[in-house]
Amino acid sequence: MKLARLGRMRNADALLGAPDDPEEATLTTGKTRFSALVGSLALLGTACGREELPQNTLDPQGPVARKLDDLVDPVFVIAGVIFVLVNVLVLVAVIKFRRRSEDDSPKQVHGNSKLELGWTIAPAVILGVIGIGTLGVIFDINERPAAAESLQVTVVGHQWWWEFDYPDHGITTANELHIPVGTKVDLALESVDVIHSFWPPKLAGKLDVIPGRTNRMVVEAEKPGTYFGQCAEFCGLSHANMYLRVIAHAPADFEKWVAANTEAPTEASSLRGDAAGGAALFRSKGCSGCHTVEGYSAGTLGPNLTHLQQRSVFAGAMFDLDDRNLRKWLRDPPAEKPGSLMPNLDLTEDEITKLIAYLDTLQ
Ligand code: CUA
Repeated sequence: MKLARLGRMRNADALLGAPDDPEEATLTTGKTRFSALVGSLALLGTACGREELPQNTLDPQGPVARKLDDLVDPVFVIAGVIFVLVNVLVLVAVIKFRRRSEDDSPKQVHGNSKLELGWTIAPAVILGVIGIGTLGVIFDINERPAAAESLQVTVVGHQWWWEFDYPDHGITTANELHIPVGTKVDLALESVDVIHSFWPPKLAGKLDVIPGRTNRMVVEAEKPGTYFGQCAEFCGLSHANMYLRVIAHAPADFEKWVAANTEAPTEASSLRGDAAGGAALFRSKGCSGCHTVEGYSAGTLGPNLTHLQQRSVFAGAMFDLDDRNLRKWLRDPPAEKPGSLMPNLDLTEDEITKLIAYLDTLQ
């Protein structure tokens, strides 16, 4: 064991180009390790400060996330001060009261009542203050907004993609939650299979999405933009591929999005050429059994594709929506996304071309 470790150290020294003198060698590798440690800590520090990080809990962009952040910051400071204090005291005790000789043993004392009372009461007070603050925030962020001044959206977790239903607008879409800025969005979270967790870190915390139960969560964005999120509860093979995006629009742009997503879709019977062939394949190959295209098919297992082209991503927001990615996907979905419930339909390249031509008409 020791020999093996020694061997590894020698190897490391060789890699670092250690000098021949063993004493100098220890010094040099010590220094190198120290600078490597400082270097990686510095790197870690810069990573925390980067604003463009897509999923940064510490960069709130809405009132709900801001309330959580306002709670986290003081708790972090309090915990940091206690951490430093405890470690300094431990170090002082270890150094000052260390055993100095063979027959040097600690004196046994009864204890110090004042100290013991102090270190019982002080943490209780600190925890009490944090507890009261936390309870306040919990009640605050869970307060449901009035229906008249909020947008209602039902979020349905599927293995492994998100469905977003807008009951007041009759819209069903997938993976991208479109919202207007400055409006409280009242989310009803449901699951059709296993437990997922909805988590858009810049806008809110995370909440479990549980089959047979409706959980409630409010999100709100202050500025237009795209906010990235992710399923945060292990839900099977492609859990890590279950992304989501919240896209916040200025109110007028949101109305445009609603209009585009409520327009009557093109009649399949009016299509010509490859698109018409694709529409026929959509039925004969069984796509229609899993996907809804309003007025054409009524499947509910996979995402509703009526206004597919209004989206920028597909397959749990794993891929950008373009013909190249659709082609790769249609060749073999489980190869692109492990565990995908959409099977490999053994489509020919010609069939894929036609299907893509049809999907391109779903505006
Ligand atoms: Cu859904 Cu993890």
